[in-house]
Amino acid sequence: MSKIQAIRGMRDVLPDETPMWQWLERKFHQMAFRYGYQEMRLPLLEPVALFERAVGEATDIVSKEMYDFTDKSGEHITLRPEGTSGCMRAVLENNMCYNKSQRLWYQGPMFRYERPQKGRLRQFTQFGVEAFGMSGADVDAELIFMVRDLFEDLGISQNVRLEINSLGTPEERQAHRRELVSWFTQHRDLLDEDSIKRLDVNPLRILDSKNPEMQEMIENAPRLLDFLEDDSQRHFNTLRTLLDNADITYHINPRLVRGLDYYSRTVFEWITDDLGSQGTVCGGGRYDGLAELFNGKKLPACGFAIGIERLLLLLQTVYDGLNPQWQFHPDVVITSELEDGGIQVQVLACALRRDLPGLRVLTDCSGTKLKRQHQNALKSGCRFILTINADQQIRLWDLQNNQQNLLAIQDIALRLDELNQK
Ligand code: HAM
Repeated sequence: MSKIQAIRGMRDVLPDETPMWQWLERKFHQMAFRYGYQEMRLPLLEPVALFERAVGEATDIVSKEMYDFTDKSGEHITLRPEGTSGCMRAVLENNMCYNKSQRLWYQGPMFRYERPQKGRLRQFTQFGVEAFGMSGADVDAELIFMVRDLFEDLGISQNVRLEINSLGTPEERQAHRRELVSWFTQHRDLLDEDSIKRLDVNPLRILDSKNPEMQEMIENAPRLLDFLEDDSQRHFNTLRTLLDNADITYHINPRLVRGLDYYSRTVFEWITDDLGSQGTVCGGGRYDGLAELFNGKKLPACGFAIGIERLLLLLQTVYDGLNPQWQFHPDVVITSELEDGGIQVQVLACALRRDLPGLRVLTDCSGTKLKRQHQNALKSGCRFILTINADQQIRLWDLQNNQQNLLAIQDIALRLDELNQK
């Protein structure tokens, strides 16, 4: 019989990793809370047409990477490859921006059929933040402040750098694109196969190429920043002033184009050199034209998403796997020297959980001899081992100072509480 295994590029998160996830999730939730963003919970499945229209048919995400299928009613649907499109759909469908702006966040799995490698999965998790109904560069800056605060709180500011760019308006991009196509056509002999394909459908993406033989030619290609007109130029300059005033160091990268078609004006990425080729931990930007593609109305918007798995890899590298908050261990383990002590153990555990809700209380249900129960408890990393004896007394063993005391059942909660405060 063939072995059944997890699908390639889709990982189990095991219990020794979940404390780290929960720790990171709490940090993210606190940040969203402090900035006044509200949570959205969005479907994992969406119509294919949503991403074709929003992310763009020519992008890798839509043309190659979607987990799409036809459902039983004949509808062409897909597991979401990203969260912004669904969030915009939900905001418009629920009329959430009628006469007001919205600051929202979401978290959850995304799916892309990419070639798995370190930091690149087929099911990965994003924290996403989106701000709707505000067109100024102050909101772009607010998003960047948020990520800066988060990275500072996580202790990784020194391991990431911020790159920004402006992609201008569709008209400005059009003007730039004409020049760019003409430039690449003049240098067609230098283009690799992928880039020749992109020349007609998405020439901007050629700027993203890592091919060393094309770098010099790309370096000298016309820059979109030189095609920005007054409004876009002003928007970009205001963003820069806001970042400068907040002491945020950034690098303007004219080649930063992002892999999704909906962006206009500001785009940004936070990148690390500690993870090899998959170094972008956060990507985002403004997408003022997206709402119009859905319902013809204008709704300025911007946002970002952080890849949790990548961020966790980075945190593990920076902390060298060591952070006490990333480990799980119970506070108390209850054992018994009686052969049929199960009932007393459970009664005591229920009482302690009620009286001391802050403690993690585990019972030994192994049905083994006391020696083995103690071995198991020691392995669990707990601080206290309680043992019920034949006289219905409790031996309290504090592993922090290796002291043991015999106590009456009714005194246990108080004593544990006192010791735990120390
Ligand atoms: P994105 O750059 O495609 O943007 O993805 C955002 C982040 O998700 C990346 O920076 C990376 O950390 C993580 N990520 C992407 N693909 C993978 C993968 N295959 N495996 C592991 N992690 C991955 C977006 O998705 C936009 N929706 C961001 C946004 C929000 N723009 C405006 N609002």
